[in-house]
Amino acid sequence: MKTRTLVPTIGFVVVLAACAAPPQFSARDPGVRGGPAGAGNSLTTLTTAQKAFFAAGQDAFVEVEGIGDGLGPRFNLDSCVGCHTQPALGGSSPAVNPQVGVATAMGARNVVPSFIKKDGPVREARFKYKADGSRDGGVHALFVISGRRDETGDATGCSIHQEDFEAHVARKNVSFRIPTPTFGLGLIEAIPDAAILANHTASAAARAKLGIRGRPQRLLPTGDPNRSGNDGTITRFGWKAQNKSLLMFAGEAYNVEQGISNELFPQEREEACQFRTVPNDTTDVDAATGTGAISDVEKFAFFMRFLAPPEPSTTMPGGSASITHGKELFVTVGCALCHTPMLRTANSPVTALNNQPVNLYSDLLLHNMGPGLADDIVQGLADGDEFRTAPLWGLGQRIFLLHDGRTTDLLEAIFAHKSIRNLKYRSSEANGVVGRFRSLGDAQKQDLLNFLRSL
Ligand code: HEC
Ligand code: HEC
Repeated sequence: MKTRTLVPTIGFVVVLAACAAPPQFSARDPGVRGGPAGAGNSLTTLTTAQKAFFAAGQDAFVEVEGIGDGLGPRFNLDSCVGCHTQPALGGSSPAVNPQVGVATAMGARNVVPSFIKKDGPVREARFKYKADGSRDGGVHALFVISGRRDETGDATGCSIHQEDFEAHVARKNVSFRIPTPTFGLGLIEAIPDAAILANHTASAAARAKLGIRGRPQRLLPTGDPNRSGNDGTITRFGWKAQNKSLLMFAGEAYNVEQGISNELFPQEREEACQFRTVPNDTTDVDAATGTGAISDVEKFAFFMRFLAPPEPSTTMPGGSASITHGKELFVTVGCALCHTPMLRTANSPVTALNNQPVNLYSDLLLHNMGPGLADDIVQGLADGDEFRTAPLWGLGQRIFLLHDGRTTDLLEAIFAHKSIRNLKYRSSEANGVVGRFRSLGDAQKQDLLNFLRSL
């Protein structure tokens, strides 16, 4: 019996190998789009005064902080722009990771953790659980200022140590996040909750067919201490839609990424090794001008609020016919059921943000993305497998993809949307759509990829 089945099998393999077909066309990610950045400038219709606030914000966003400014005592990098810079100021992770250099800059003695690579994405690390088994979920800053002396101050006497990241990596207790771009965020901030909910309702029938749910991240008024933004409205910034506003994100980032306490986050996360008054960043009530008076966190918020959305290309890559066709497929395949091509802002006191279309390619809602993408971090109502639909505008020039930056390849990013439930998490809501994408022909897949890299 055994030999009889074996022989034809071998014969079959030999035949296949003998007529090995000429290399087949197969769809490929065209890669990061070249040409002009098409991003990084202010909204075009700002008033002169608004432009002045944008410029002041941009200066603050590129400023490098030192010991005397309040850097640390734990930090992930020393400027906003270091993490938000591709393909222009305000963007996402650059090709060369500045975290490698900052670890030992100016006398600091930090060890670069194994998950930080020179040619890898900027990363922040969150721990899933504390030593006692309860949930953690917070950002653990990678570096300390001990030993560092720069032109603003001297921390050579500080003796706090880095956490043992490798031990947590070995226990699979660490999840990573990469920077999201900040282009066009004033427009996203100006979208009313009602528009998000109406968009969700409008696609209900089409989503039901494909098993796509999605729900807004609402902070419930539970009265818990130790929570901010507790007004019950929809939060929308960050990988888990965990933050309410640009001001809030700026205040948190300043304190969490750079260790700069401020008027929104007035206490230091660690109160050892302080070389400046706390909070480090404050309003200058004696200043003569508005832009001179406002604090850094307000400046950051103005910069991001007035930053123009990224401009798509109509011809690159693949030509306009391919891009147009790819955009149609994006809708028919079902990607657009989560990646909503357009939402609108409501009445805004800023003309440039008033009643505007926002071509963000996101519904700003949370979706169960399955065990394959789950990071086991709970934030507000977002569970360990839930993520905000990543806005795809500007995708053409993004290098690293998905919340942890695990790939640079669009096809891998798409296939990562699919995973089957395990004991802890349910199947991804995107499974049906990925199946439809998979069944497209190569030329169609290529059009869709070209469209994505045109954004
Ligand atoms: C060490 C790198 C790093 C630095 C420095 C940094 N960020 Fe970020 N930024 C990130 C990461 C990672 C995320 C995603 C965080 C998340 O969703 O949990 C992010 C997300 C954001 C977002 C959310 C955008 C969106 O729509 O999702 C804003 C706004 C932002 N950062 C502003 C700032 C500002 C302002 C500064 C300077 C005060 C700053 N960041 C400094 C890494 C950094
Ligand atoms: C069920 C909702 C849903 C559907 C359907 C869906 N996506 Fe996504 N998409 C998401 C979420 C959520 C993320 C963020 C996941 C993460 O980072 O872990 C994402 C991330 C992405 C990213 C990475 C973006 C970045 O900045 O890293 C790309 C590219 C993408 N989607 C393309 C597609 C395409 C193409 C389709 C259709 C074939 C599709 N998506 C269908 C929800 C969806």
